[in-house]
Amino acid sequence: MSSITDQIKAELSAKNAVLVAHYYVSAELQVLAEESGGIVSDSLEMARFGQNCTAETIVVAGVKFMGETAKILSPEKTVLVLDEGATCSLDEDCQIDEFSAFCDQHADRTVVVYANTSAEVKARADWVVTSGSALNVVKHLKDQGKKILWAPDKHLGNYVKNETNADMLLWQGSCVVHERFKADALANLKAHHPKAGVLVHPESPQSVVDLADLVGSTTALINAVRDRPEQTFIIATDNGIFHKMREVAPNKTLIEAPTAGQGADCESCAHCEWMAMNTLENCLDTIKTGKNEINIDISVNQKAQKSIQKLLDFTA
Ligand code: 13P
Ligand code: SF4
Repeated sequence: MSSITDQIKAELSAKNAVLVAHYYVSAELQVLAEESGGIVSDSLEMARFGQNCTAETIVVAGVKFMGETAKILSPEKTVLVLDEGATCSLDEDCQIDEFSAFCDQHADRTVVVYANTSAEVKARADWVVTSGSALNVVKHLKDQGKKILWAPDKHLGNYVKNETNADMLLWQGSCVVHERFKADALANLKAHHPKAGVLVHPESPQSVVDLADLVGSTTALINAVRDRPEQTFIIATDNGIFHKMREVAPNKTLIEAPTAGQGADCESCAHCEWMAMNTLENCLDTIKTGKNEINIDISVNQKAQKSIQKLLDFTA
């Protein structure tokens, strides 16, 4: 009997399928995606890769909004996710009816939504952005004199607002993983490692962002570990990212930012429970059976595609 990874590779090849994985899924899925001709990346590059690849089927190891984004950009392709229940607290915090009413109340504002949203919310938006592109898109809109309605992540929105001084009205969603990082415990840890660089994903609270040497998307954080001069880093993002960081910088020391401290509800819980639902077993099962297919209403798809395409063109 061949190994499960060999079986997945054989199924991918037989079905003309490609595995597209996020940095937060398990190391074994990340290795498999790269070895089988797919990609491991941040959410922006996952979307771009899916659109440009020639495979007929895109298998997404990540969360639901990533599968939906792949389908929106490649409606002619079959898109499968490994577990239909793998969602995201930001997506869940922003339901279309409530969000649409909010947009209607502020019709003078340009609607900018984070990629971590449903297809319907993207369809209601003027622009979709990712953590790697939000600052530049908002700067661009501000230069055009636009007022912005931002959703759903209040922390990322607050960070972008502070950096750009744009007029931004914020929806109040949050990421349950990044919200748990604690500034007081991080400051203590930093005092014990005074030479360490502190790298923070902007879904974290402002008090944590304030302690950062670099704030950026998952790709920006990985590049920082590789390129910056520090030998030690304290990392405030999902710990699934450590696999790629160790690969690109094997000699550096990586420390998880603390999720303990005042008001903490766990010692170290920096891992997304929905990303953890992606496994080799459900990967094989999904490709074999073709289950968990993403389907999006055609008119929703067309509208959402326009908002995402603006981003892809802007960042090309
Ligand atoms: P990136 O766009 O930086 O990959 O982030 C996606 C995400 O879900 C972070 O929690
Ligand atoms: Fe959503 Fe946070 Fe999980 Fe990213 S880490 S998928 S933002 S819940």
